[in-house]
Amino acid sequence: MDDLSFPNSLEEHWMPFTANREFKKDPRLVVKSSGVHLWDHRGGQILDGSSGLFCVPAGHGRTEIADAVHAQLLSNDYAAPFQVSHPGSFELARKIAAITPEDINHVFFTNSGSESIDTALKIVMAYHRARGEGQRTRFVSRDRAYHGVNMGGVSLAGMVKNRETFTSVMPNVVCLRHTMSGDEPYLRGQPEKGVELADDLERFAQTYGGSTIAACFVEPIAGSTGCLVPPKGYLERLREICDAHGILLVFDEVITGFGRLGTPFAADAFGVVPDIMTMAKALTNGCQPMGAVGVKDMVYETVTEASPQSAIEFFHGYTYSGHPAACAAGIATQDIYKNEGLFDKAAKLSEYFLDKMFELESLDKIVGIRGYGLMAGIDLKPEGAPGAFGTALQKELFWNGLHVKFTGDTGILAPQFIATRENVDSMVDILRESLT
Ligand SMILES: Cc1ncc(COP(=O)(O)O)c(C=O)c1O
Repeated sequence: MDDLSFPNSLEEHWMPFTANREFKKDPRLVVKSSGVHLWDHRGGQILDGSSGLFCVPAGHGRTEIADAVHAQLLSNDYAAPFQVSHPGSFELARKIAAITPEDINHVFFTNSGSESIDTALKIVMAYHRARGEGQRTRFVSRDRAYHGVNMGGVSLAGMVKNRETFTSVMPNVVCLRHTMSGDEPYLRGQPEKGVELADDLERFAQTYGGSTIAACFVEPIAGSTGCLVPPKGYLERLREICDAHGILLVFDEVITGFGRLGTPFAADAFGVVPDIMTMAKALTNGCQPMGAVGVKDMVYETVTEASPQSAIEFFHGYTYSGHPAACAAGIATQDIYKNEGLFDKAAKLSEYFLDKMFELESLDKIVGIRGYGLMAGIDLKPEGAPGAFGTALQKELFWNGLHVKFTGDTGILAPQFIATRENVDSMVDILRESLT
């Protein structure tokens, strides 16, 4: 491979979610990407086993997206998003609304999943206030939840490392128990048992008063903590309890959105429609930073109609909300998904992918596997401090030719929708070899 580049200094860049000191002694730089592959700075080819960070399902180096962004930047590089806009933001919102469930027909643009969570929190507050129910100040989240890193998401987080250092967060958040019982460490699809865990929400309603709870935020499948699939009936039960108490149900679809489960959204896969859904990642196939919040008509109408005709209805937005280049990437991406039938492709590849992942069950170093759609979590038997083995294996896999996202001692595999069965075979082979 030619054109290998290596920076003059690694010191100045403070890397996110990274062991900086260790990384800078032994860096792993990706210098090229195309299709299902990445190339490292030493020239090695690496299979992208987690679609980057779950955001590149249509494959790397899509010229349609690059061309659309290039053309957009030349024709109209920026339009102020407050009281002015540009055509692309409306077109992308229309395309998203066309694939979101039922009444989710209004889309607010952000620049990331974390911003989508903060935005959703504010929409919930604005909605209840507009209805004269400003007393709903409590939020419900879940243990082992990851909702990004802004203060709203940190307040809702259920992972200790994402909140023990950051203590001054939003008050009035309580967490449901998570849905991983530990009874069935190897579990494909939805657990049969565990629907009653949703009754934690009813318990909170009884303890705090249902009329004081504003919203319940859940990832339909908890992704970052290792693909925790909801028990059968669990999301349905959450929906019922929310309806009974006037609580808004928010699905964080930042990972599950745009085909990861073989359907447009997890809401479709599980047949449960939330009031609000957060999105990001695959929205632009990872080519431009972008997030979005989809809301039901009644949420949009309640907030907008509560203000006089010419007044700004929702005091929220970002300088880069609906940036023209991000919208161009989003439109091109949505066209690729549709024209290439990529959500169906994901659904078709899922069975094979899960068959292969569960073959790893026999390895001594693996103590649990879960999977649904094109996503699987693999738990390693810890060696030394928690997370030490996961970190070491992630590095080894990289040099052995496979990129996998790890959270502690759990690897999360999420192939691209364009991946072939042979690509899946290679992923599993590299995992097996690296683990034996
Ligand atoms: C479910 C969920 N919500 C929110 C986020 C935050 O997204 P971002 O990293 O784009 O801010 C993530 C990121 O992984 C996520 O998995």
